[in-house]
Amino acid sequence: MQNFQPIINDIVNETKRQKDKGKVASYIPELSNIDPNKFGICILDTNGIEYSAGDSNEQFSIQSISKVMSLSMAFSMIGEGLWKRVGVEPSGDPFNHLSLLEMENGIPRNPLINAGAIVISDILISNLKNPKSDFLKYVQGIANDSSISYDEKVAASEKRTGFRNYAAAYLIKSFGNLKNDVETVLDFYFHACSIRMSCKQLVKVFYIFMNRGNCLQNDNYLKLPQVKRINAIMLTCGFYDEAGEFAFEVGLPGKSGVGGGIVALLPNKFCVSTWSPGLNRKGNSKLGMLALEKLTTDTGLSIF
Ligand code: DON
Repeated sequence: MQNFQPIINDIVNETKRQKDKGKVASYIPELSNIDPNKFGICILDTNGIEYSAGDSNEQFSIQSISKVMSLSMAFSMIGEGLWKRVGVEPSGDPFNHLSLLEMENGIPRNPLINAGAIVISDILISNLKNPKSDFLKYVQGIANDSSISYDEKVAASEKRTGFRNYAAAYLIKSFGNLKNDVETVLDFYFHACSIRMSCKQLVKVFYIFMNRGNCLQNDNYLKLPQVKRINAIMLTCGFYDEAGEFAFEVGLPGKSGVGGGIVALLPNKFCVSTWSPGLNRKGNSKLGMLALEKLTTDTGLSIF
């Protein structure tokens, strides 16, 4: 594999020159205090070699990026039966939209929109002894890093203002697609979104989707056909109503979060994560998208 350090140094310099850094998310009040000038990037290649620049060691709120990890855990536990509860089609809608849910009888379009992740949270709660601590241990185990934790302040902040997620959960419940009570499911969901990780930690977790289900320590977490499915869903649904644009500009499966993080990967080659808190109109990190577009264009490395 090539030496990615010169290109990521260039990327950091280029992002520093950008005047419009996007807008930090404020609908979860606790997220609005972040410095919009932060920028981190990290690449982990298939040989385990890490390249990083900027604020790549600083932890931030991963938000919707956690949806890939909860999908991965639920899928590895219950297998293909999962697709009876949630679909695999892009929604073409913002992450918190409700109208399709009503029309499609409480079966969310895919596991990476909020409604889909709420159903996945329900599945995990039904299948885990201690859902919140088991899920955190699962993530810590993949990254081999016990410093990954929930941010109780962010979880509480979202609980106070997460009205659309309450609306989605009650609508799903009304169709019988939520087995546990709404408060329990959303408490799990808000905690999963509140997980704090750095760019360096994120690439270690996403290494399993790049490396045929195996983590850096070579433990197996997913079967190969499951990795194929999760990467396909990241490509088609990982960026909500901007999934087409991300495939067009960047050309990698990936996932964003409103904390400003993005993780993407080229199977069997590398994982990359970026963090820049300012978001574009669609809720994806503005400079993160720019950085990843430059990375895949300048290196010629994408799935296309
Ligand atoms: O449920 C929410 O609205 C947030 N916890 C997560 C949203 C999110 O990260 C969407 N991503 N771009």
